[in-house]
This record gives sequence, C-alpha cells and structure tokens, in this order.
Amino acid sequence: MITTLLHLAEGRLVRVSGPLTVSVVDGQVLVLGAIFSRGSSFHVDEFKSYGVKALVDSSLKIYMSPGASVEEPQSGEEPLDLWVSRIDDVMRRGCSSLAVMGPTDAGKSSVAALAANRALLRGLRTGVVDADIGQADIGPPAFVSASIVEKPILSLRELRPLYQRFVGSISPQRFERRVAAALVESVLRLRAEEGVDFIVVDTDGWVQGVNAVEYKLEALRLSGIESIVVMGDRELYRLVDRMYGRYGCGVVYLPSPAQRRIRDRGARRILRSRQYRAVLSGSRPRRISMSDVSVQGSCLFAGTPLTPMELQEIGRILGVKVLAASVTGDALVAVVAEKPRGNSVARLESLYERQQVYLVEKGSVKGVLAAVVDERGREHPALVDDIDFATNTITLYTPFEGEVRGIVFGNVRLNEDYVEVGRPSRCLL
Ligand SMILES: Nc1ncnc2c1ncn2[C@@H]1O[C@H](COP(=O)(O)OP(=O)(O)OP(=O)(O)O)[C@@H](O)[C@H]1O
Ligand SMILES: [Mg+2]
Repeated sequence: MITTLLHLAEGRLVRVSGPLTVSVVDGQVLVLGAIFSRGSSFHVDEFKSYGVKALVDSSLKIYMSPGASVEEPQSGEEPLDLWVSRIDDVMRRGCSSLAVMGPTDAGKSSVAALAANRALLRGLRTGVVDADIGQADIGPPAFVSASIVEKPILSLRELRPLYQRFVGSISPQRFERRVAAALVESVLRLRAEEGVDFIVVDTDGWVQGVNAVEYKLEALRLSGIESIVVMGDRELYRLVDRMYGRYGCGVVYLPSPAQRRIRDRGARRILRSRQYRAVLSGSRPRRISMSDVSVQGSCLFAGTPLTPMELQEIGRILGVKVLAASVTGDALVAVVAEKPRGNSVARLESLYERQQVYLVEKGSVKGVLAAVVDERGREHPALVDDIDFATNTITLYTPFEGEVRGIVFGNVRLNEDYVEVGRPSRCLL
C-alpha cells in the first residue's frame, strides 16, 4: 500500500480510481455531491473512479492499494460540477423524484447516488429504487430493491434493501412486466409507508430500441416520477425527451465521465457474484412440500403432471429414467436422470403433439435462483438445492425463516461460489 499526502487548492479537482481510501486531514471536499470535511474519510473500490473537488484549501491523505491511481483531469473531462448543478436545478424547481437512464457504464448509479446526496443536503427524507436487475447495487441481481438513504453515500451498494421484488432474470428482456410492476410498487410504497420527500430511481442499461426505453418510461410515468436524467447518449436523450419531456421537470441530459473505470463482462459477473453471496451465504436449508406452495416461473410445475405410466412410456422412448413430466398447451417438460442420446426428443414431440419438448436434467435444478413468498406477499431470495420428485419436496437455501406460501423460480443458475453458470433458459425447471 502507498500512502500520499495531497494538497488541493480551493476549486481544484482530481480523479481518483480505486482501490483506495481518502482521509480528509484538513479542509472540505466534494465527492458525488456529498461533502467530506476534516476528520472524515471515504473508500473507493477497485471498480470505481470519482472526481474529488476541494471546496476550500484541503489536505488529503490517500491510502492506495495496487491498481489505484490519482490523476489530474484534462479540462472538460470531469463532469462533477455539471452533474451537481443540473441535479440541484431539478430540486430547486420543486420536483420530488428523478430517474436515471442510460447505457451500461454511463454513470447512472453514480448520478443516482449523487442525487440522493444532494437531496440529503437539503434535509429531504430520501428513498432510492434500484431497478437495474443486471448490475444491481442495493439488493441481489435479478431483484428490484428499494432503500432509504440515511447518510451520504459513494455507491448505492452501501444501502441495505428495505423492500425487494424478484424479477428472476438479470436481463429485462421478456421480464419487462415484472420490472415495471416492481418499480411502480417500490416507488408507491416508499411514498406511502416511508413518507419520503425525494425518490431516486436507477434503471437498467438496456436502452437499444423503442421497446427497451418505452417499458421503463411506462413504469416511471405510472409511478409518478417527475424528471428523467439521461446519461451519455444524446440520441437516447432526444427519444426520451419526445416521450417524457412535457411531464414534471422534464428530461435532462448529462454527459458520462470522459475517463472512468469500465467493468468488462468478467468484472460484472464478479460484482454480481458478490451481491448473491452477500444475501445468500449463511442461509439454512429448508424442505418444503411443493403441494403446499403456489409456484410461478417454472415450466414443469405449471403443467399438468403426467401419470407414472406415462413417465415410463416417455422414459422408454428417451432411453433414460424420467423422474417427472408435465404438459401445458404447447409444451412437454420432462425431468430426466441424464441426457438422452439420438433424436428421441423429436419422436416425443410427434407422439405428444407438442411443439416443444424441454428436458431438464435432474442435477441442473441445483443452484437455480428463486424467491420464496411469505404470507404477506413479500419475497425473499432463495437458492434451489434439490427437488425430490418421488416425494414432491424441494430443498432450498434462504435467509427467510417464516412461513412460505409460494416460490418463484428464475432463469439464473449459480454454482457453489455464487457464480452464474450456463445460459439463462426459458425452462430451467
Ligand atoms: N466524476 C467521475 N469521474 C470519473 N469517473 C467517474 C465519475 N463518476 C463516476 N465515475 C465512474 O464511472 C464508472 C461508471 O459509473 P456507474 O457505475 O455509475 O455507471 P452505471 O451506468 O451505473 O453502470 P452499470 O451499467 O454497470 O450499472 C464507475 O467506475 C464510476 O466510479
Ligand atoms: Mg449502475
């Protein structure tokens, strides 16, 4: 670790990239719209960079781990002042809610945190809804989470979820209705139950095409969000402005930082894995009879179960043991002990006159991400361990200890290290 002492004259700005910790020895600095005074300190993790601006002559002690850097930005590179002034302007105009939209890595979550910090400085009770299921910060990925901001934050990750809703996928495509419903519910609950004065919504980075944008705007409009900040994409800004510009405080454009830490797919996967681990590690196993719960998000459990004789018949065609199977309108789902060989699936399709036959290998139900639903309809993260088809019972890991009324299965599967494995599938089980 390298320790340096940095003097920053009033008005000067540096860009710091983690992992590092800054302690304010003297003076006062602005980071993400929050003010850090003498004696306080803040941490910047390995995947983050921020502008740090001296509000008065300041001295900073910086503890840098390998990979960290402190640089002087070129003129026009650092957006911090512009971000603060545009966000302050929305608040000055009396608007009490703001959503951030933009492509991945545009700076959405940073501006969401900044807006929360500015609202706190105004003494407003502030709530945040994290509707970015792919790069979730407050709760686990595949969940929409909401929280109250009690103190200045440098990342939404510092917040603990107060509410959470399971979407079941880390990508919003085909799951738009769950994201939208969860977003609307979270905003309304923050207002009704928590009495917040200001709400910030962070959204997913899927902004290609009108549908991607429109589903988010629909949810924001229905939850009464009064202004939208579009980050780093002028064409997107014009589209959102045409669709939302006349509501409330309208649509604001903010540039992304010209120089910033970018996370590649690997880094994003690691970040998601940390979030899964944070909520699921330490969970205890629970055995639940599938006939005692309502089930959503499963192809198998949605269908009419086949009889033992039919299972045998299918097993004969496939040449493998079939543990369970069901049919719905156009699909047949069968749980098999192992992968069958040859083109026996096609024979099954024609025999049962189903357009689709999904085979689920028994071993692959382990690690499927799910949520358990309690008697008040609240959802809690869970991970499938095993399903015993002979007794129709499921074993899953969840931190929730109360009565379970329902299970919602997702399309994400995790290994023992909480790392996503395989591709998301329409019918994981
Ligand atoms: N003022 C700044 N100067 C330089 N870099 C910054 C600044 N503010 C934020 N960043 C960095 O820009 C990167 C992207 O920011 P952020 O995580 O907010 O984007 P995002 O749009 O939420 O990304 P994602 O799609 O992963 O959710 C981060 O590394 C962040 O630390
Ligand atoms: Mg983000």
